[in-house]
Parts: sequence; C-alpha cells; structure tokens
Amino acid sequence: MKKIKIEGGHKLTGSIQISGAKNSAVALVPASLLSDGIVTIDNIPNISDIDALNEILEYLGAKVSRDGLVMKIDSSSIVNKEIPEDISKKLRASYYFMSSLLGKYKKVEMYFPGGCSIGARPIDQTLKGYRALGATVVEDGNKYTIFADELKGAEVYLDMPSVGATVNTILVAVKAKGVTVIENAAKEPEIVNVATFLNNMGAKITGAGTSTIRITGVEHLGNCYMEVIPDRIEAGTYIIAGALMGDKLRIENIIPEHVDSLINKLKEMGVSIKEEGDAVEVTAVDNLQPVNVKTLGYPGFPTDLQQPLTTLLTQCHGQSVLEETIYENRFQNIPYLNEMGAKIDINQRKIYVSGPTSLVGKEVVATDLRAGACLVLAGLKAEGITVIDNVEHILRGYENIIGKLTSVGAKIEIEEI
Ligand code: EPU
Repeated sequence: MKKIKIEGGHKLTGSIQISGAKNSAVALVPASLLSDGIVTIDNIPNISDIDALNEILEYLGAKVSRDGLVMKIDSSSIVNKEIPEDISKKLRASYYFMSSLLGKYKKVEMYFPGGCSIGARPIDQTLKGYRALGATVVEDGNKYTIFADELKGAEVYLDMPSVGATVNTILVAVKAKGVTVIENAAKEPEIVNVATFLNNMGAKITGAGTSTIRITGVEHLGNCYMEVIPDRIEAGTYIIAGALMGDKLRIENIIPEHVDSLINKLKEMGVSIKEEGDAVEVTAVDNLQPVNVKTLGYPGFPTDLQQPLTTLLTQCHGQSVLEETIYENRFQNIPYLNEMGAKIDINQRKIYVSGPTSLVGKEVVATDLRAGACLVLAGLKAEGITVIDNVEHILRGYENIIGKLTSVGAKIEIEEI
C-alpha cells in the first residue's frame, strides 16, 4: 500500500511535459497482436496499466521489449489460450485482447474486464458488435467464450458512442471478410490513434474521429511504427493545477485541440491561460466565476476531467453546477472534498458546488483514478498536510506524478506503508 502526502499552498512554476495517452496506449498494445510482424510503439507512458497489459502479452507468449518510451511487440509466437480472471480484471482495457484474439484467431476465452468502479460499465455494445460480425458469444457467469467460423463485415449501430465498443468492433472488423460500418461511433482522439496504428499495419479504416467508421477487411497486417498521442486527461489535470496554484505554469507537449473544451471552460471562469503551439501557460487568479459543466463524449467536456475540475469549482465565487452524463457513480470524491472544506451537494447526476471555500489538509482516499487526481489537486491548494490513501489507482494513469509536480515546486511525496 502506498500513500501520497502533500503540503499545500506552494505555487507551481516551470514546465511539465505530458506523457503518452493512457487510453490510447492501452488499446494500441492489445491491438498489436493483430500484426503478423513486429510492431513498434513510441511514447508509451510508464504507468501500471501498461505493466498489466504487458503481463497479458507475456502470458500469451509474445516477445516484448521496452526501452524508455519505446515498446516493441513481436506476437508471432503467441498461443491463443484462456486469459485468467485475475489478470483480465486488473483493468478495463484487458478486453481489447478479447477483440484482437477474436479478430486474429476467431476464438477467444476471457473474463469480464476490470477498471475503475465508477458505474456499471456493461459490455453489451461490444458483444453486439461481435455478434453482428458473425461470432457466437457464450456467457458463463463472468466468463466469455466467443468464436466464429468466419467473421464477416456488417453494419453495427452503437446504442451510445462507446469508446470501448468502437475500438473493439474495429479490432474484430479489420481482418473480417468485407466491409463493416460502425454508426454512432465514439469520436475520441484515442480512436483515431488506434485506427492510424492499424492502417500503418495495412488495415483499411476510414472515418475514425467521426461518427461513421468504415472498415474494409484485409487478410494480412504487418510491421508498423506508431507514436502514442499526448494524454489529454493528464494535460487537463495539470492545466487545472495551474489554474489553482500556477505562476506561469507551462504544460508542454499537448495537442491543444484535444483540450479545447477544458480551456474554453477555464476561460469562461476567468483563468489566465495562454496558448503557444503545443503548450499552454496557466496562472492562478482570484475572483473565478462559477460555471455550468456537462460531461459528454468528445469533443464535449470529458468525464475523465470532471472530478479534477471539481476542485477548481470550489474556488469560484458563486454556485457552479456540474452534470455527469456518462457514469452513474463518479462522485465518490465529493465526500472527501467536503471533509477538506468544500461545500458540495449531490443530487443524482448533478453536483452543486458553492464557493469559494478554503480547503484544509485531511486524510482522504482515492476511490478511483480521477477521484485520486481531484484529491491531489485539492491537496496542492489546501492549507496543511493532505494524505491520500489507495494511491495505486492514481499510479495506474499518471506517469511520475510525484516527480512532475515536485519539479514545478509542489511539496509532494509517496510513502510505502
Ligand atoms: N456503455 C454501455 N454498454 C457498453 C459500453 C458502454 O452501456 O457496451 C456505457 C458505459 O456504461 C458508460 C458509457 O457507455 O456509461 C461510456 O462508456 P465507454 O464505453 O465510452 O467507456 P470505456 O470505453 O469503458 C473509456 C476510457 C474511460 C473514459 C471513457 C469515456 C479506456 C480504457 N477507458 O472507457 O477512461 O471515461 O472511455 O471517455 O479507454 C479513465 O481514464 O479514468 C477512464 C475511466
């Protein structure tokens, strides 16, 4: 068990470099199994979710090497065997293996994936995609056995623009016979990254980043090189840190368009933010204005940034209203923020944040990854010492968070207990 300890109140100045996107990398790594050659992925973030995927790759017999940011995967020697429940449930993205193995071998045996406990997170749309392409899905409790004599392109209309179901359907369709069209597809930048990666291997995918994606199946996928895009959620988290405590805090190596919804919301609040090429510079100001926020699929305001943003809403002069439309249980950070001095009421999918309130350091718990990020931000602002338990959640998704924040002036450390 590890804890993070933060002494609040220190200004943040200097620059933070953003790492590769967790939610891209966790799809690219399993997608690499579809290649019959060697795949090189650059800008891989050093986070524990990647270690968990590595474990699955090695369990299946892939040859994996990691050298700094570069991961090379040779899956020519893999054996398609059942992936045990204890490793499937370590993270949500384990189910991308389900699709890659089904796409390549037309059979897979695996268990329901894990992931942060922020709502029910069913996989019905993924299973709908598999079935549309001709697979039979046998469910036995948490275990799925999925097989097909032949995978054939089909039209798949997703009930909601699910990131996971979009990626999973692409992974199965790339080697299926004929054309697959995904309607109401998710438009997140991570999906474009996955489609480009597969196209670099020889796949034929068009329309990624729009709500209609067309995939023409091919027989063979080969060697490729791909870079993981910068993590827009990590970037957003540090931009919010800058809005709370920044004195010309620079966040570098970002794709500004990917954080547009956040930057615009911050400008509406009155935050001082300068955009310069692939960087932004943020300085904390007084007298922030309250705002209304509603989470939506890309390019709307990302659910993954609503918990970090809530910390900043506690500093606005007046009442902000934030509505979470994607997950039904993503407010587990609120009781802890209230213990630290915030005034936040929850009413079903909405929170009402009254501010400004002073925050004071307390012992709190990271219930999930982004709740953890919210509490780190609160700790940076709070008077005194904040201690965060269960920080394994945070380390799943933020590369070197302690080092990055320390380098810009935060007093933050991690303790093994
Ligand atoms: N949904 C269904 N059925 C499905 C699939 C999704 O009902 O078959 C629902 C979910 O329950 C949820 C909504 O649709 O209410 C959106 O789920 P989606 O499938 O888009 O999410 P995901 O693929 O499971 C990814 C990210 C999440 C991020 C969401 C939304 C990964 C590994 N995870 O999850 O990231 O919140 O997209 O952008 O890519 C995080 O990084 O903290 C995180 C939770």
